[in-house]
Amino acid sequence: MFWLALFPLLLRGSYGDVTYSIPEEMKRGSVIGNIAKDLGLDAKGLLSRKARLDVDGRSKRYCDINLNTGELIVAEVIDRERLCGRRLTCALKYEIILENPLESHNILLQIQDVNDNPPKFGEDVVKFEIQESAVKGARFSLNQAHDADIGLNAVQSYTLQRNDHFNLAVHTNPAGGKQSELVLEKELDREVEQEVTLLLTAVDGGTPQRSGTVVIHVTVLDANDNKPVFRQNVYKVNLPENSPIGSVVIAVSATDADEGVNGEVTYGFGHISDDATQLFSLNPKTGEVIVKGDIDFETESFHEFSIQAKDSSGLNSFANIKVDITDENDNAPTISLKSLTNPIPENVLPGTEVGIINVQDEDSGVNKQVRCSIQQNVPFKLNPSIKNYYSLVTTSELDRELISDYNITITATDEGSPPLSSSKTIHLSVSDVNDNPPVFEEQSYSAYVSENNKPGSSICSVTARDPDWRQNGTVVYSLVPSEVNGVPVSSYVSINGDTGVIHALRAFDYEQFRSFKVQVVARDNGSPPLSSNVTVSVFVADENDNSPQILYPAPAGNSLMTEMVPKAALAGSLVSKVIAVDADSGQNAWLSYQIVKSTDPGLFTIGLHSGEIRAQRDISDSDGMKQNLVISVKDNGQPSMSTTCAVYLLISDNLAEVPELKDMSYEGKDSKLTSYLIIALVSVSTFFLTFIILILAVRFCRRRKPRLLFDGAVAIPSAYFPPNYAEVDGTGTLRSSYNYDAYLTTGSRTSDFKFVRSYNDNTLPAEMTLKKSPDHFLEGSITTLNTAGESNESSECNVALYWP
Ligand SMILES: *[C@@H]1O[C@H](CO)[C@@H](O)[C@H](O)[C@H]1NC(C)=O
Ligand SMILES: *[C@@H]1O[C@H](CO)[C@@H](O)[C@H](O)[C@H]1NC(C)=O
Ligand SMILES: *[C@@H]1O[C@H](CO)[C@@H](O)[C@H](O)[C@H]1NC(C)=O
Repeated sequence: MFWLALFPLLLRGSYGDVTYSIPEEMKRGSVIGNIAKDLGLDAKGLLSRKARLDVDGRSKRYCDINLNTGELIVAEVIDRERLCGRRLTCALKYEIILENPLESHNILLQIQDVNDNPPKFGEDVVKFEIQESAVKGARFSLNQAHDADIGLNAVQSYTLQRNDHFNLAVHTNPAGGKQSELVLEKELDREVEQEVTLLLTAVDGGTPQRSGTVVIHVTVLDANDNKPVFRQNVYKVNLPENSPIGSVVIAVSATDADEGVNGEVTYGFGHISDDATQLFSLNPKTGEVIVKGDIDFETESFHEFSIQAKDSSGLNSFANIKVDITDENDNAPTISLKSLTNPIPENVLPGTEVGIINVQDEDSGVNKQVRCSIQQNVPFKLNPSIKNYYSLVTTSELDRELISDYNITITATDEGSPPLSSSKTIHLSVSDVNDNPPVFEEQSYSAYVSENNKPGSSICSVTARDPDWRQNGTVVYSLVPSEVNGVPVSSYVSINGDTGVIHALRAFDYEQFRSFKVQVVARDNGSPPLSSNVTVSVFVADENDNSPQILYPAPAGNSLMTEMVPKAALAGSLVSKVIAVDADSGQNAWLSYQIVKSTDPGLFTIGLHSGEIRAQRDISDSDGMKQNLVISVKDNGQPSMSTTCAVYLLISDNLAEVPELKDMSYEGKDSKLTSYLIIALVSVSTFFLTFIILILAVRFCRRRKPRLLFDGAVAIPSAYFPPNYAEVDGTGTLRSSYNYDAYLTTGSRTSDFKFVRSYNDNTLPAEMTLKKSPDHFLEGSITTLNTAGESNESSECNVALYWP
């Protein structure tokens, strides 16, 4: 074959014709054969014989004769495929004509096929669309490859590029062509490979072999063979409680490997509780779980439900959603009062439990931790007790009189952030205990009341206060039984038990007593009652209710009361003295003396306050022997009271003239009375003198320098004109000590001194007597004015008055 293909082949026919077999595509000029030789012709004669090559009816000659050599040469390249197409035999017929003689020979030129064409497919790319659901063994026919060559040079076989899915089946079709088919060996999966590209090669049988290829492009068509798949099987999410409605809890997502409608996923709830349906909604398109209700940790702290993802044809899968609700501090603590002692007595000891409080918080964790406190300024505190209990105890003593009720504010704060707190106010009142005695407003009271007051008039009022409550603070007044001058005090004054007003029950007499003391008790109505007492000093004030009393001369004048005046008395010599007293005191007892009538008005004067009658000029013989003076004694009260008395003066040196006195006097029968009076006076005086001497003796024994009250009196007996007791200090002012208490006479020749009252040892030093028997003393201070006129000095001294 090879040889045939390359070299022309001479085949000798029976007619003497020549057949040549040549391969196609020989070059121009190539020698096919030597006709002259093959036909047995003389090559030299060809030209002469005008040899020519006739082609039957064909325009193209392809061959020519070299007339010189007799060789048949290729004049034009012969393409068998063009010349003969798919005919199996291809020959060119020529006739060589020679003249001289005419000679004709047939020449057959057989053209042999040369593998000059590769197999060719109709298109470059073959496209297939194959459902992924196609089953194994499915066949897909392929177009044949075309090869212009024939025979062995035509397509002999196909080969398919190695791949996972397809095999190639080749079989010969009735027309003798090689037909190939793709056979599915392994199912396609669009989700793995969306397309498969294969290379199909067709080869011919020529030498050298030629081949042609085509790309087979297989597009895998989707079938809904995948269900949606969630990214996670279980979704866990923490959701703060009170998340606003509309907030997204989580977005689930499932993917479906299928495409297009087959891959469209919608979501819906799978298994879900009724509670959760109230709280969550699901967006079917996006898979977002959305809050649609109030998320309350305290109601439910955990939700679990499933979500289904579904594609168009109903393939589905499920995912579990676990929602943990996280606590927010949205519940304030609540305070509840479990027990309370109300009211509490004010005398409870510090540390006494008065109430129990319970605190709760519905939140959890730190949001549930609660601190409890109480405001600062109350005497209470909270003691933590078991669990959430606190006991409210007192921290100090209570005093209802200071604070009678408390508003205790308890504040509970949790530890959340921000912390929430709540508070509760407890009203606690303190009940009374009788712990306060009544207290008088003053430490002591003084009442001043004028003598001769109206019985029943109020003289003073006392007030005591008791801050306790109701009867524990109700004060009742009463007098403490005591005696004044031996008489129960209740006969002097009475007290109104409710008001504390003290009334005088009788008229007081200053001359009887000047003050007394009353104890008043204030007592409350508690049980037991408490009391306190106060001293009320009642001072009786003097009124000018006593007129001066003349002590000397005796009011009923008689001869004995006649004063002897020496004839030689000089001007200024003391003649006599009027002595008067006034039971009142002070100004009311300050006496002044005046001569209202006299026999010889220019002869005698009287000291305004001393009562001393003195000669105003030297007495002469011409003066009448008998002189009468009427003297008025007036106190200084308002209005003043006065008394008058008469003084009889006899100017004579001779007692013998006394009988004449009888004439002067009025009644002789009075002499007897006078002598009695004298005897009485002398005995009293003697007694008193003895007494004085006794006192002096005792005093001298006690101390070297006694203080003598009656120093003026001592001198009296030794002098005819005893130093006037009023002049002891040389100023003519009455010594204050004597002002009230002592009356000494100097003018009487029959008695040296007189006493209005008797005195005893107790009267002497005021300081000493005070301590003895207070009941019998009135104390006071007396001011004496210097009445002599030289200076306006005053002096003050304390006077103790005692009456037995
Ligand atoms: C306690 O509160 C009540 C009512 O809120 C009020 O009337 C009272 O005065 C308060 N008491 C004290 C001691 O603050
Ligand atoms: C008075 O005090 C007593 C205790 O001393 C107490 O028991 C009583 O309740 C008080 N009375 C009032 C009205 O508070
Ligand atoms: C008066 O009070 C004093 C002290 O305050 C007391 O010692 C005295 O016993 C009380 N007298 C009466 C009668 O209550």
